[in-house]
Amino acid sequence: MSPFAGRRIVLAVSGGIAAYKAVEICRRLVDAGAHVIPVLTEAARRFVGEVTFSALASERTRLSLFEDTDPIPHVTLGRQADLILVCPATARVIGSYAAGLSEDLLGATLIATRAPVVVCPAMHTEMWEHPATQDNLGLLTNRGVTVVAPEEGRLAGGDVGAGRLAAPESILAAAAEALATGTQASTRDMIGLRVLVTAGGTREPIDPVRFVGNRSSGKQGYAVAVEAAARGAKVTLVATVPRPVSESVDLVLVETAEEMRAAVMDRLPADVVVMAAAVADYRPLAPAADKIKKSGELRTITLEPTSDILAELGRTGSAGTLVGFAAETSDVLANAEAKLRTKGADLIVVNDVSAPRTGFDHDTNEVTLLDATGGRTTVPLASKRDVARAILDRVAALRAAH
Ligand code: CTP
Repeated sequence: MSPFAGRRIVLAVSGGIAAYKAVEICRRLVDAGAHVIPVLTEAARRFVGEVTFSALASERTRLSLFEDTDPIPHVTLGRQADLILVCPATARVIGSYAAGLSEDLLGATLIATRAPVVVCPAMHTEMWEHPATQDNLGLLTNRGVTVVAPEEGRLAGGDVGAGRLAAPESILAAAAEALATGTQASTRDMIGLRVLVTAGGTREPIDPVRFVGNRSSGKQGYAVAVEAAARGAKVTLVATVPRPVSESVDLVLVETAEEMRAAVMDRLPADVVVMAAAVADYRPLAPAADKIKKSGELRTITLEPTSDILAELGRTGSAGTLVGFAAETSDVLANAEAKLRTKGADLIVVNDVSAPRTGFDHDTNEVTLLDATGGRTTVPLASKRDVARAILDRVAALRAAH
């Protein structure tokens, strides 16, 4: 099913030449089943008329705080939205939003919502690179806003450089991700903490084209990284799969268990380490340099064990509060209890990956949190962002008890 089906999206369009590209985004969202309400600034109307958006969207275009019978249109729009997509976002709108100014309907709606917000900047290179713009975007990312960075390319007036609105595919992917991960984070209880998260399944080469892998999508690890960043932590994410993530997260892409181990060890010490990755336990002993040709015979691949990163962190104690995951299909809690002890973790997040809508590649998860002090918390089926929130709440409680 489309991630946009039945979701209410406020498409907030501000005044730049890229406003014409928002027309295409509007059409694609509606085609994907979203209920789209366009909100235009006065400047946006100078680039694209409101009638164009009204004709393509699910409701007529809104322009002003004072245009209709609803005395509080910004609050109504903000409350009912599942997502606000600011596309394009000018330097002025970014600045006003960062400063909390509600000078028009678009600005007021942004301040009046608890829904996730995705901001897609588009402007000239000088404006994009100006410290004011960058600082404002940093502030917004720290507040849990998703920023879809612009691309390099042709700009208005024939100039070429960074600042061109991101491709529709990147914008729609970020919007889908924000919808899946849920509401904006509000608690800012991780300011000053260094958090290291791993995500995704490692790939262990058999030959240059094949690998031993697993079904992990990385979504839960990404949700933990995004939530930690939204709470103010300085986050490094070591992942095997690229996904949209807040600009403030330092993303390190790796492939194999050994590369992941090296990337993690390189970035220690940390205050919190969350090992959400599904690290391979074995890798081919001797990967072939050339593609293996089929012979029609049985073939044996000899595997050797990889190093257990979590257990190594547990032994050395350089990871601050150490969180591990346990993906189980049977004896779920007993296996997780054993992992908590043998790996020296402070907290184990266990999920039964054979249960419906739980674990690998789903947008939802259902987990139990087991901690080394004997605490046990069950998180019923929820979005991966909500599960991330529950994990970091537990981490905060464990750190406070120390
Ligand atoms: N892990 C790790 N290094 C490995 C294997 C696993 O750091 N080589 C970490 C995972 O990131 C996860 C935890 O250990 O946080 C548990 O992973 P899981 O695959 O459930 O358990 P394993 O230790 O691999 O045990 P088993 O496969 O026997 O269940």
